[in-house]
Amino acid sequence: LTPFERGKLLYKFSDIIEKNSNNLSYLESLDVGKPKSEAEGDINGVVNCFRYNAGAADKIEGATIPLGSEFVDYTELVPLGVTAHIVPWNFPLGMAARSLAPALAAGCTVVLKPAEQSSLSAIALGDLIKEAGFPEGVINIVTGYGEQAGSMLVNHPLVKGITFTGSVETGKIIYGNAAKGIKPVVLELGGKNPMIVFPDANISKAVDDAIDASFGNSGQVCSSSSRLFLHEDISEEFLKEFEDKALKLTVGPPEENPNLGPLASEEQYDKVMSYINQGIKDGSKLRFGGTRPNRFSKGYYVMPTLFEKVDMTTQLAKDEIFGPVAIVHNFKQEEEVIKMANAYDTGLVAGIYSENISRSLNLSRHLDFGSVWINGWFIGGLQAPTGGVKMSGIGRERGMPGIHNYLYIKNIGVHL
Ligand code: NAI
Ligand code: MG
Repeated sequence: LTPFERGKLLYKFSDIIEKNSNNLSYLESLDVGKPKSEAEGDINGVVNCFRYNAGAADKIEGATIPLGSEFVDYTELVPLGVTAHIVPWNFPLGMAARSLAPALAAGCTVVLKPAEQSSLSAIALGDLIKEAGFPEGVINIVTGYGEQAGSMLVNHPLVKGITFTGSVETGKIIYGNAAKGIKPVVLELGGKNPMIVFPDANISKAVDDAIDASFGNSGQVCSSSSRLFLHEDISEEFLKEFEDKALKLTVGPPEENPNLGPLASEEQYDKVMSYINQGIKDGSKLRFGGTRPNRFSKGYYVMPTLFEKVDMTTQLAKDEIFGPVAIVHNFKQEEEVIKMANAYDTGLVAGIYSENISRSLNLSRHLDFGSVWINGWFIGGLQAPTGGVKMSGIGRERGMPGIHNYLYIKNIGVHL
């Protein structure tokens, strides 16, 4: 297809997804336990993601390079070919769209492998692909376990590019396998994201954001604010308001449309509870939460949870928990908070709350993270690139850089 026709097809696809958003969000909610309204928000994001990339499909341009009067030199941007897209279960269709849409806009064909915990929406998408009229073989969906289906895709000689979102541990395995075929990878591997709050911040706004960023999707978000760094002058004021608001959040089954649904799987529930219990054993102070709400005797429900006095060397402080568990550290000096925020080997997102914009912008340059958000959380959406430094990953998704992941540069030089 011409780039213009590719764009048209992607627009048509986004309209069809929008028409089916009720069913897709129902499946998403059923599969991973997220509240229906959150699932609806996710599918709305999927629609917008396809629209953004549809509009970009015919705006992908190479360059001419001046080498002097005897030469003509230019570049063409060439689609990689078949690309594999291995996605996790926290935003099943959202993560799929984030890499499928730009790959398709770039002119690649795609093979999607959803997570084994959450394949329903991907399968439903298969029917919509037919309805949109994509040529045979352009979009393929393969369900299965990571170690089998995922690993076969990564190793397949026809697969020319790999995009993976998930754990650092699995990212390392995929990177290693991709190396055997010298295949380009995009890896989005999560982190342990600091939110830094100064005394001159709008505290209520920072608290609201911290609630959303710590407990939204029950904390199963790669860009959760999993470490709160509060200046000691406002720490108690912040925490009182944070506790008040957190304890008002409802936890329950998705059909009740609570603030927090259950965690996505038994495995994830066990993992989160073991971090909580280990945290208590290691001497961190549990300020609230830490258990299943009283009204449930079973189910993967975890109350919004907050730990204080957390030693920076404990697992609770260092690891990505991926549950509704926030931890607090206090600080006095800017130099001190920079060191603590940068202390670990991941670097996805950091946030700064302060009305002093010079200080915030200056501080943003000292934070080793792929994104720095100032006075807001989850800033950016579809147009702004996102991704990690250090062990949080390689490459950037979203925006125009998201499309360039699926193109290589061919240089054509002519001696006149
Ligand atoms: P995972 O990273 O193992 O799985 C994610 C995807 O990778 C799934 O589709 C899975 O089938 C596939 N996969 C697994 N092993 C593979 C292999 N050897 N080759 C190819 N594909 C493979 O994540 P998991 O085990 O579901 O969750 C464990 C932890 O990972 C979570 O507790 C959380 O901390 C983190 N995580 C981070 C996410 C993020 O957005 N950055 C998303 C999901 C999980
Ligand atoms: Mg795994």
